[in-house]
Amino acid sequence: MSGIRSVARGIGSYLPERVVTNAELSERIDTSDEWIVQRTGIRQRHVAAEGECTSDLALVAARRALTDAGFKASDIDLIVLATATPDQTFPATAVTVQAELGITRGAAFDVQAVCSGFVFALATADALLKTGAFERALVIGAETFSRILDWEDRGTCVLFGDGAGAMVIEAVQEDDARGAGVLTTHLRSDGRHRNKLYVDGGPSSTGTVGHLRMEGREVFKHAVGMITDVITDAFAATGETAESIDWFVPHQANRRIIDASAQKLGIAPEKVVTTVDLHGNTSAASIPLALDVAWRDGRIRRGQLVLLEAMGGGFTWGSALLRW
Ligand code: ACO
Repeated sequence: MSGIRSVARGIGSYLPERVVTNAELSERIDTSDEWIVQRTGIRQRHVAAEGECTSDLALVAARRALTDAGFKASDIDLIVLATATPDQTFPATAVTVQAELGITRGAAFDVQAVCSGFVFALATADALLKTGAFERALVIGAETFSRILDWEDRGTCVLFGDGAGAMVIEAVQEDDARGAGVLTTHLRSDGRHRNKLYVDGGPSSTGTVGHLRMEGREVFKHAVGMITDVITDAFAATGETAESIDWFVPHQANRRIIDASAQKLGIAPEKVVTTVDLHGNTSAASIPLALDVAWRDGRIRRGQLVLLEAMGGGFTWGSALLRW
């Protein structure tokens, strides 16, 4: 009996209009373009307008992904939305997107794995499609990190940006998939590291939203090892290698983490898709945003092998390997 493959049908993204450059930040806080570029590779980030919510960003990205897939909203019966910056504590931001799209069937819910959110959401949607219970999913990463930043803390506020990306995946019988689809996913977390990157507020603790806090060096220290571990797992599960993959689309946290991970794995620099210079770290949105850029500029083509990875607060980390 043939199994089910979750095949990527379309991708879309959205970035808020307002761009904040390093130069603008250096007028507000004690930092410089040189320091930020040298340590992170970030040159600018997008910031949501007043009143522009995570669901607003997600909705535009979702509509663009549906158009790219050639699907109507009513074709979708599952929405898995990754965010650490929901519109409200509840309901899930996913149900707002569902309602705005006019979808009244199936299920919609949020996934919270911070910067690893998109990989966790994709793995969740893939697993649900494989049960046969759902046919077509919107997998979304959407964030308004600008709302949880301490704009006085130069160690964190220079790193993050707002944005959203969405992917449409469809359940296809393996015999009809021509090798395409999600081939493997690997998810990990280790809560012993939860105090290294966190938000100092929440509904059941302080009753406030809180601000992002981070021990940057500690995150950096663990990132490359965790990323390379889950990618090694993806290669072991599929028999693919650093040579056989066509594109490496990592979570866009920091240029140095991306370069060091690719180098450790032996992935050629020309296969690495990097958008951190223009987007900053958009947490759960960064992978679908980068995928959309590389899909639209013609780098990613049908039939190619695309490797995704992310690492973030928790710590959480994960990889996904798919044939486009
Ligand atoms: N501008 C100028 N100086 C700064 C800034 C800034 N924006 N931020 C910190 N500094 C100063 C510090 O105050 C310190 O000064 P001091 O030596 O006088 O005390 C100096 O720069 C060095 O500070 P460190 O924090 O030790 O700098 P480091 O070299 O570790 O770089 C950074 C900081 C860029 C945050 C780095 O640790 C890093 O990239 N960590 C990974 C964090 C990350 O990517 N997090 C994203 C979320 S997790 C994820 O998505 C994977």
